[in-house]
Amino acid sequence: MGAKAGPPEVLAALAVLGLGAALLCLLWGAPCPPPWGQRRPEEEPAWSPGPGSGPAWEPLAGEAQRLRQNSCRLELVESLPQDLPFAAGSPSARPLAQAWLQLLDAAQESVHIASYYWSLTGADIGVNDSSSQLGEAVLQKLQQVLSRNVSVAVATSHPTLARSSTDLQVLEARGAQVRRVPMGRLTGGVLHSKFWVVDGRHVYLGSANMDWRSLTQVKELGVVLHNCSRLAGDLDKTFQTYWALGAPHAALPRRWPHRLSSHINLARPLRARFGGVPTAAYFSASPPALCPAGRTRDLEALLAVMRAARRFLYVSVMDYFPTTRFSRPARYWPVLDSALREAAFSRRVPVRLLVSCSLHTDPGMFPFLRSLQAFSNPAANVSLDVKVFIVPVGNHSSIPFSRMSHSKFMVTEKAAYVGTSNWSEDYFSSTTGAGLVVSQRAAGSAQEQLRRLFERDWSSRYAVGLDGRAPGQDCVWRG
Ligand SMILES: *[C@@H]1O[C@H](CO)[C@@H](O)[C@H](O)[C@H]1NC(C)=O
Ligand SMILES: *[C@@H]1O[C@H](CO)[C@@H](O)[C@H](O)[C@H]1NC(C)=O
Ligand SMILES: *[C@@H]1O[C@H](CO)[C@@H](O)[C@H](O)[C@H]1NC(C)=O
Ligand SMILES: *[C@@H]1O[C@H](CO)[C@@H](O)[C@H](O)[C@H]1NC(C)=O
Ligand SMILES: *[C@@H]1O[C@H](CO)[C@@H](O)[C@H](O)[C@H]1NC(C)=O
Ligand SMILES: *[C@@H]1O[C@H](CO)[C@@H](O)[C@H](O)[C@H]1NC(C)=O
Repeated sequence: MGAKAGPPEVLAALAVLGLGAALLCLLWGAPCPPPWGQRRPEEEPAWSPGPGSGPAWEPLAGEAQRLRQNSCRLELVESLPQDLPFAAGSPSARPLAQAWLQLLDAAQESVHIASYYWSLTGADIGVNDSSSQLGEAVLQKLQQVLSRNVSVAVATSHPTLARSSTDLQVLEARGAQVRRVPMGRLTGGVLHSKFWVVDGRHVYLGSANMDWRSLTQVKELGVVLHNCSRLAGDLDKTFQTYWALGAPHAALPRRWPHRLSSHINLARPLRARFGGVPTAAYFSASPPALCPAGRTRDLEALLAVMRAARRFLYVSVMDYFPTTRFSRPARYWPVLDSALREAAFSRRVPVRLLVSCSLHTDPGMFPFLRSLQAFSNPAANVSLDVKVFIVPVGNHSSIPFSRMSHSKFMVTEKAAYVGTSNWSEDYFSSTTGAGLVVSQRAAGSAQEQLRRLFERDWSSRYAVGLDGRAPGQDCVWRG
């Protein structure tokens, strides 16, 4: 659509690029707030009982609770862009679109969706392409869910960047409750989290936006938990923080109400058998201002997983910047970068970093990647390798802001981390995100499955070492 892109498309494009509030407030002429830490909220947000039906959130009694807890099942899900074949016999996860449709079919009481922006139909971005059909099917299914009297509550970032999308209006007309959360005003960030809580017992969390391209044109990774009421209830507390901040005139509370405190965290993960497999798991959240007592911060979760690694540490992220991205003046922010070097040097853990490279990749990322790669020293057993993943554009060039790897995960021999944030400072200080850390003890564990997916990508022809990329090459591979 390139040349025809008018302002709405450009803004939708920025949405996909995840440009933060600092830029957004410039674009919209909205007031640019100071960092949240300097705000003095006058009052706590009016405390609504929250969306959805009550019963799903009540603690379950004894035996029933034990049974539900034991029935927890975890499943990795992914979207592979069309025309991105992997070698025959390669591992794969369940298709995300299938998992989403199944979750919506299963919904009986409530669906809570934390989302950055919505763009589920081709018409939303003025594209006529058959690959939008799955997104349109999800929107249809949500309408069916509403017509079955299931409550649907959506928290989404405000102002929205997908301004020509009508998805949320369509759902509101059918009774969905939508709260638009002014994160720019509250923290200087955006609501960038992507997760669902269904009936207070099923969960989806991952990199995919509520965007049809996330189902057929962009590479995504996520996780689904079925019949997991304790973890789902815990993640719903994060949803409730967005819900509270989406109420009219809400301010950041000095203290979040006790009922949003988490009792499942890094120090005390949920320990249970998932389909018989001993499992420890917890959710993290960012930014710190949206972490009630007991909630592990997303950055802390990442660092804990990295520090525990002894045998390998593999990372797949869309963007990697050891700096701020959106606040000015830009600052160096070596926290995650140092942790990678420390794992490689101090513990001799082989580290691999797979970063997305597409038409829209900021070339300013490459000096940081080359610096990491240069840290490798095989003679001293220091192994830190960096590759970029290029999704060939093929004959899909008419679809803007697609054909890229958008996954955000990390895996070690001990744990899998599935998140929603890019790796740069803003995602941990002002923008909302959420992550799941899970560790299983058994063959076929979550971390084993995720490692196999990482290795599939890493050894595929789409993953290219930094030297294999000519300087200035823009990662647009028609291939
Ligand atoms: C971060 O993530 C968003 C969406 O997840 C993406 O569109 C954006 O381009 C990313 N990059 C930066 C530097 O924020
Ligand atoms: C979309 O394209 C198909 C053929 O590719 C065509 O039949 C259809 O009319 C088009 N729809 C719109 C709304 O332009
Ligand atoms: C829909 O839900 C409301 C409130 O829970 C209830 O009063 C009503 O009877 C339900 N309607 C149907 C058709 O199930
Ligand atoms: C969840 O539990 C219900 C029974 O409570 C069962 O029918 C359903 O198959 C379970 N779902 C999964 C995906 O295991
Ligand atoms: C590197 O690792 C190999 C095998 O573990 C070991 O024999 C060798 O001494 C190590 N070299 C250094 C410099 O640590
Ligand atoms: C697009 O390319 C794929 C192979 O990369 C091919 O299978 C498909 O038929 C092509 N579609 C069109 C409309 O050219």
